[in-house]
Amino acid sequence: MGNVIATVNMKGGVGKTTLTVNIATCLAKIHRKKVLVVDLDTQISATLSMISPAEFAKCRKEKRTLRHLVSQAIARYGAQVEDPEKKVYQIKDIVIPHVCQVQGLDLLVGDIDLYDEFLVSEMLYNRSLLYEQKQSFQQTWSNFEQTLIQGILAPAIQNYDFIILDCAPGYNLITRSSIVASDYYLMPARPEPLSVVGIQLLERRIEKLREIYRDDKSVNIQLLGIVFSLSAGFTLSRYYDKVMDRVSNDFSSTKIFKTKIPNDVNIAKAVDDFIPVSLSKPNSSGAKAFAEATVELLKKLEVSLGMKEQTSRLSLVDLE
Ligand SMILES: Nc1ncnc2c1ncn2[C@@H]1O[C@H](COP(=O)(O)OP(=O)(O)O)[C@@H](O)[C@H]1O
Ligand SMILES: [Mg+2]
Repeated sequence: MGNVIATVNMKGGVGKTTLTVNIATCLAKIHRKKVLVVDLDTQISATLSMISPAEFAKCRKEKRTLRHLVSQAIARYGAQVEDPEKKVYQIKDIVIPHVCQVQGLDLLVGDIDLYDEFLVSEMLYNRSLLYEQKQSFQQTWSNFEQTLIQGILAPAIQNYDFIILDCAPGYNLITRSSIVASDYYLMPARPEPLSVVGIQLLERRIEKLREIYRDDKSVNIQLLGIVFSLSAGFTLSRYYDKVMDRVSNDFSSTKIFKTKIPNDVNIAKAVDDFIPVSLSKPNSSGAKAFAEATVELLKKLEVSLGMKEQTSRLSLVDLE
């Protein structure tokens, strides 16, 4: 079964997209994994880090973007009568395979427009009144939130070793749905006070999500780790270390990636060529750091899976 990992932080500009596309590239290119990147941000940064605007326009024209899977899921949930003539969109028909000419690296193209919040709220309200009399509006909302991204990914999970979800900053419906659909979440951050506040705010909200899905065994929201990207001019600053220490105090040290992503102009420049720096400049300091972070991520997953296996063995022993 594939690992689903959501890249999240309440703050924008902290390196979520850069980390997503480069880790995905390293997993496919160096480790020969089958990887799908899903762009869930209407700023479509992950999309434009891997394909050109012209290619994106073509995908949009051909209705090969995430938007069509989202609207289909909304229509189905609202139990709207489906037009038998209407095309059914399948994730496998929409993804771009071997993106950036990397074998095993696929992209589910995002869209500048994913859903209409008012229409979704109206649909959920009507559904709670019509079909689910015993359920509150909040329960209907939570059910939808839980199934939206899970439902979109479900037919593709078996085809990938990793599915990485590049989330928008903030905490919208799609981000929550992505976190709930994931096995792990990865938090990129900058060692700056406001970025640290972003981490704390997200953790509080995720704690609430865990509470909502406490009794649901299919939902297991786990932090895989925090990856720091350093800003220009501060690479050797003690102040940076102090801020990172503050985060280390809040989380177990195993949750902080040892690899720090340096400030490297090649990372920013790569976006101009619509390919991740791990491909355009594999020997740059940035690309090397992403390769190291990928190895660390694989190790963290191994440890986490080992712990899960141990727990399940223990519970079997308990049962016997
Ligand atoms: N380590 C880095 N060195 C130089 N530029 C970076 C680095 N990480 C990100 N950037 C640049 O900073 C901007 C924001 O990064 P991005 O990954 O899009 O953040 P987010 O997804 O959190 O909004 C982008 O233009 C990106 O190219
Ligand atoms: Mg982004």
